[in-house]
Amino acid sequence: MSEQKRVLSCIQPTGHMHFGNYFGAVKNWVDLQEKYNCVYGVVDYHAMTTLYKPDKLRQATWEIIFSLLAVGVKAENLFIQSLIPEHVELCWIFNCFSSYGQLQRMTQFKDKSNQAKETTKDTFISTGLFDYPVLQAADILLYHADFVPVGKDQDQHLELCRSIANRFNTQVGKEYFVLPETLHTETPKIMSTADPTRKMSKSAGDKHYINVFEEQKRILKQVRSAVTDAGASTMSVDANGIREKSAGVENLFELLKACGKLNAHKDLETKYNEGNLSYGDLKGTVGEALAELSAGFVARKAELMADKKNVKYQIQQSSAEIRVRAKQTLKDVRQLTGLGNLKY
Ligand code: AMP
Ligand code: TRP
Repeated sequence: MSEQKRVLSCIQPTGHMHFGNYFGAVKNWVDLQEKYNCVYGVVDYHAMTTLYKPDKLRQATWEIIFSLLAVGVKAENLFIQSLIPEHVELCWIFNCFSSYGQLQRMTQFKDKSNQAKETTKDTFISTGLFDYPVLQAADILLYHADFVPVGKDQDQHLELCRSIANRFNTQVGKEYFVLPETLHTETPKIMSTADPTRKMSKSAGDKHYINVFEEQKRILKQVRSAVTDAGASTMSVDANGIREKSAGVENLFELLKACGKLNAHKDLETKYNEGNLSYGDLKGTVGEALAELSAGFVARKAELMADKKNVKYQIQQSSAEIRVRAKQTLKDVRQLTGLGNLKY
């Protein structure tokens, strides 16, 4: 039997888990665990690249760990980046295999440095922010990942990662690193229910995202106040009997599908096409589907929080076990690049 393919992805310990990044990314992480050898990192070194507070960083790191575990990421697959310092060692080595010009073209760097200037009115842009994609390449190649499940916004970083791997392989004269592939899933782009023309995200403000670990009542309320349109009967119907949907209504249907409520989705869509769907019913069904999903996650998170010490111990253990693989890569890389030979 051929060896199982390896998957790696990471998330920054910033912000809440909301139904946008849950359906867009994290749910996929959970599902991939069935088929592949997966490791997932909470990247706290990356979170230092823009203005941050040390005590908040540690708290946010544990917060996202508990959230990831509650939605089904397995503890043994999860690590905290800074517990594996090989990430930064490989980043340094990769700095010497990455082109300054290519880093300058990274759109995320340009966006984030502009954003930092606007929100903090500070002209300080860290070298860490510039180097962010090189650290990301180290995250990926340290574990010889075949597949990296990420959103489209990460394509440029993955391209950089492959060019670093390529340059490294050429320089050392050996195909040591496999070139990782981006794994785009059929992830829905979940829009804000308050403004369906923009994606659901924390940065736009409280009403623009629905927290996965929210109280039932608030979820129902947020969905009830979702922006729709003047009514199904006002939308045009094509020759096949398919009625056009406004962005808000489309988003509600997407959410229902993402919750796995396929029968309800089909029934409501039929009613919609017939022009008989009340948006109150649609919102009620979507709200309940989200609230039901959330209830399970909230309960699981509470159980985990009640056992905080044990969970923290488990994650330290899993990080230590995952580190064994990182150390092996570093040992090989030191050998291949002519660096001093550490005894691990
Ligand atoms: P973020 O929460 O912005 O750090 O993003 C974490 C991951 O979730 C990335 O892979 C994003 O592409 C994905 N993501 C974030 N917001 C959404 C959204 N509204 N719809 C779909 N995917 C999203
Ligand atoms: N840059 C990614 C994001 O903003 C997070 C990340 C860091 C990552 N290291 C990674 C994603 C390695 C995939 C693989 O979402």
